[in-house]
Amino acid sequence: MPLEDDAMPEATDGLRLRFVAEVDLTLDDHAAISDLLVASFPEHADTFRAASWYGARPDHRLWIEDSPGAIAAHLDLERRLIGVGGRDVLVAGVGEAATHPKWRGKGLGRRLMAELRRVVSTETEAPAEFGYLGCREEVVGFYERVGWHRIYRKVREINPDSREWTTSESPTLIMPAAKPFSAWPEGEINLRGTWW
Ligand SMILES: CC(C)(COP(=O)(O)OP(=O)(O)OC[C@H]1O[C@@H](n2cnc3c(N)ncnc32)[C@H](O)[C@@H]1OP(=O)(O)O)[C@@H](O)C(=O)NCCC(=O)NCCS
Repeated sequence: MPLEDDAMPEATDGLRLRFVAEVDLTLDDHAAISDLLVASFPEHADTFRAASWYGARPDHRLWIEDSPGAIAAHLDLERRLIGVGGRDVLVAGVGEAATHPKWRGKGLGRRLMAELRRVVSTETEAPAEFGYLGCREEVVGFYERVGWHRIYRKVREINPDSREWTTSESPTLIMPAAKPFSAWPEGEINLRGTWW
């Protein structure tokens, strides 16, 4: 269910934070998210014209809107029990993190990540032990500046295009949520499904 409005106050600059369960998204929400993702990832425009996500289907969306239907920044997440060194770890796998080109460099990505940390650290919203994502080398610096930690582990995952198991070659980052960074277990990571 969408959170009550009073849980997502309008910021003083007029931008509004929204945290919405996937099943509660309207068709207009999907269209607005697709528009943002097409503008943000022009090299994957066809993918995001066809659907408002890629890889694993998210369970929640978090976005900042300028006005209804005009999304300035967005990410999605899916909670999943992954395997790390043979142990179960509850992560919020994050994908489709993007700030619209005209809004970049204004702190919206940082704001979104602060809100992500709040919702995944809160028992009643989208609780998880850690945030988890894989990204391109060029954006590692962004994530590290906004509370994520890079880890160097072998990651087994399913490629959503080929549907085959592969070993990830991308940077892996985690964000402390219900557990501190020091509690991340040793060992190989098995996403037990597709990446986000
Ligand atoms: C990466 C992206 C989400 C950053 O969003 P943003 O709203 O411009 O980021 P912010 O303005 O909140 O920046 C937060 C901090 O990260 C830094 N930063 C932003 N992009 C960075 C980058 N590529 N490398 C290193 N640092 C970066 C900023 O300088 C800022 O630092 P400071 O606050 O300590 O001075 C945005 O550039 C984007 O949408 N890129 C295209 C889509 C993409 O690649 N998404 C990631 C998919 S994994």
